Amino acid sequence: MIDFKNQAVNLMSQIDSSLDIGEIESLIEIPPSYDMGDYAFPCFKLAKTFRKAPNLIAEEIANKIGENEYFERIENVGPYVNFFVNKEVLAKTVLDDIKSKNERYGSSTLGEGKTVIVEYSSPNIAKPFHIGHIRTTIIGHSLYRIYSFLGYKTIAINHLGDYGTQFGKLIVAYKNWGDRSVIEKDPINELLKLYVKFHEEAEKNDNLNDEARSWFKKLEDGNEEALKLWHWMREISLKEFNKVYDLLGIKFDYFTGESFYSDKMPRVIEELEEKNLLVKSEGAEIVDLESYNMPPALIKKSDGSTLYITRDIAAAIYRKENFDFYKNIYVVGSEQILHFKQWKKVIELMGYDWAEDCIHVPFGMVSLEEGTMSTRKGKVVFLEDVLKKAVEKTRDIIDERNPDLDDKEAVAKQVGIGAIVFQELFNSRIKDYIFSWDKTLSFEGETGPYVQYAHARASSLLGKSNFSIEDEVDYSLLNTEEEMNIIRLLYGFPNVIIDSAEKNEPSFVTRQIVEIAKAFNRFYHNCPILTEEEDLKTARLHLVYATKVVLKTGLSLLGIEAPEKM
Ligand code: ARG
Repeated sequence: MIDFKNQAVNLMSQIDSSLDIGEIESLIEIPPSYDMGDYAFPCFKLAKTFRKAPNLIAEEIANKIGENEYFERIENVGPYVNFFVNKEVLAKTVLDDIKSKNERYGSSTLGEGKTVIVEYSSPNIAKPFHIGHIRTTIIGHSLYRIYSFLGYKTIAINHLGDYGTQFGKLIVAYKNWGDRSVIEKDPINELLKLYVKFHEEAEKNDNLNDEARSWFKKLEDGNEEALKLWHWMREISLKEFNKVYDLLGIKFDYFTGESFYSDKMPRVIEELEEKNLLVKSEGAEIVDLESYNMPPALIKKSDGSTLYITRDIAAAIYRKENFDFYKNIYVVGSEQILHFKQWKKVIELMGYDWAEDCIHVPFGMVSLEEGTMSTRKGKVVFLEDVLKKAVEKTRDIIDERNPDLDDKEAVAKQVGIGAIVFQELFNSRIKDYIFSWDKTLSFEGETGPYVQYAHARASSLLGKSNFSIEDEVDYSLLNTEEEMNIIRLLYGFPNVIIDSAEKNEPSFVTRQIVEIAKAFNRFYHNCPILTEEEDLKTARLHLVYATKVVLKTGLSLLGIEAPEKM
């Protein structure tokens, strides 16, 4: 595909050899609206070199470059040289590229030979997988897809919270009040109940806390009974988590949770000792981070048991040694920012220069719109319930709007779950947001169903026509504002994907496809297609095809399906 920005830079550099290509590149801007051109070069900086007013310089440059095959107009407005892309060349390069690459349009080899680890979801055993966990699961999965699309070797890790003192508590609770068969019927809930019960009872009887500590210590020391119980709780919980992942169509390459690192910690502790980083403090061992304005990292408790951060240090070292990552990404809520800062600092202090390739990607919290969510129990909302409810609600909407649709069940699932996923990825991730059913499931506005609907509409248009990808197309016919708007957005799509990886921000992709869907609907309403004379009809159908392809790719990068009909 032609890189028009690059062409503008080349033209600029050709008219005056004193201009440095890198500098031109960094100065070129995209004007706020297209009537000011597709690219603009501000001449303020040149004023010094040329000892002339910027307006005059801009005018001279514009005149010197004149017309050429890529730009239909180059003119100055005040101190800016404005470049207007040749519409036919643009339409041709974009649509041809999409037709030759199809669903790979926007993919790249940028990441070739580099490994990116994306760690996401990582729920805790015996604590519910709730609406808050949905964020890490969905954002992480999307990043995983985006990096893969850009050619990186991508590894998805679920760092399950399957270790730590809560297991001591669970074992004690189970031994006192648990019933195996009851738990196996509804593991997540029943284990949670036990966990809650433990805390209630421990309020009254502090001995329980000592017992729990000692059971966790036994677990760390490989006690058979402790190991057996732990293993069982982990297995039954994982089975439940997998139901949610299946609904979302999400897979992991590894379920290496905290427990995976239990035998990898002694080495870390030795290493910390050797490097003189460990300090004794009230019987515990810590890394002092005072000079970095952070509380100490607690590495080992006085009873010898290890902590969350110890396991995270071991995990990072393990990943570097086994995967030699280019980036090691952690999609975890913003409430853990301090934890990841301390952790990174410790790794840095250990002398690992790859610490800088470890990236915490935080996100804001979800809260629930008053009265919108039915809950099984108190304040906790279970992700599985939310997903199922979204599918049910979507089924009702389809029954109302399109009762004769084939395969209603499958479409309800694709649209209902897609709606939830889309909503999660619409706002920039760090923002807190309020979940609302009405907003999420609306077929209007900036929602998943709206984009999926635009895709289905494009698909049905193509189905009703004699469109063929081999058609001879006269691209000069695509010149209305409606058409150009879509073409520009399609043209921008590959760069949006790159930016979204750079900032670890899937919402860039979400926003772009919403804009494409909006532009497409405007086009659909204002520009007749099937009733036009042959050449124009063909050109427009090719635009419809390109739109359909890009919407589908965009949705798939978010982890959302694109039904052909809905
Ligand atoms: N299990 C933790 C939680 O749900 C998240 C784990 C995040 N990942 C990590 N490597 N610390 O709160």
